[in-house]
Amino acid sequence: MKAPRKDRRLAFLVFAVVPLAGCGGGDTQNSLAPESHQAKDIASLFWWMMGGAWLGLGLVVALLVWSWRRRNRRGWGDDVEGEKPGEKRSWYAVVGLGIVMPIVVISALFVISDLFVIKTTQAPASTSTKLTVKVIGHQWWWEIRYPGTHAVTANELHIPVNTPVRVEVGTADVIHSFWVPELNRKIDTIPGRTNLVGLDAEKTGVYRGQCAEFCGVQHAHMSMYVFAETPSAFRRWLAREEKPASSPGGGLAAEGERLFMNGPCSSCHAIRGTDAAGYVGPDLTHVASRTTLGAVTIPNDRENLREWIVNSQHVKPGNQMPNFDLSGRKLDALVAYLEGLK
Ligand code: CUA
Repeated sequence: MKAPRKDRRLAFLVFAVVPLAGCGGGDTQNSLAPESHQAKDIASLFWWMMGGAWLGLGLVVALLVWSWRRRNRRGWGDDVEGEKPGEKRSWYAVVGLGIVMPIVVISALFVISDLFVIKTTQAPASTSTKLTVKVIGHQWWWEIRYPGTHAVTANELHIPVNTPVRVEVGTADVIHSFWVPELNRKIDTIPGRTNLVGLDAEKTGVYRGQCAEFCGVQHAHMSMYVFAETPSAFRRWLAREEKPASSPGGGLAAEGERLFMNGPCSSCHAIRGTDAAGYVGPDLTHVASRTTLGAVTIPNDRENLREWIVNSQHVKPGNQMPNFDLSGRKLDALVAYLEGLK
């Protein structure tokens, strides 16, 4: 039975809309909406390859149709002595379209991608750049360091706009892959190695990045934000980020600080300017100035912070932080202390 016309139209709409849902602005990762010269080169390479692939497909379909229309002509299948009609021409077509053309096309793509795009998307040399950033992958978050400064943060990478930034990526555990689609290609983090990639945002804004190599159960919740800021805003941010945490004078937050230092928190997290120097979870020196928790899993607000402390295994199952059986004044105090770490 034929589907009613309305149903067919609906099915077509779904097929058309679903693939397009991944595109478009906002909080997205779209390698076809490039915002840097590197990402632009990658996008043009993609479109050239896409064009070439469609041409190839068109040619194959045309040949299929052509041969189907000639299916009843006398040819190879007939029992004829000597050279069959069209035999030579067919061999030319096989050699030309089946061997010579692929070699030419694939060699051209190799030259364009390897000699051109790989070069233009490379990280700037450490001698030629004003800013080098170290990014270290952890299961399942990103540690970010600014060499030459005391700044350490997590999951939110700040860079100045229109400045080639050299990003040195490494890992504390398994292979991850650092990828900010609107700014550049992926780069794997390999144990025992430092790999390089460049970031050079042309416009101020927030770019979403994502771990692009399966690295365990919370691979999908291993995202990051890149904040491309004006150079002066970036310098202000870095100066603030470099400072140790300010100690709360008293009250609830001071109670929270004692709880943090004497409880299990300080054995996994570092807060510069205090005795907490753990290295299992993110540095929390300025955690309140970050926009998300759990590597872009949930927004960083009071409710979510409470939820994260008490029940992070529900929010991000498998993460290294255990649930803490805290409530009442103790939880309020801990949250008040962390909220003050701006
Ligand atoms: Cu880290 Cu996937």
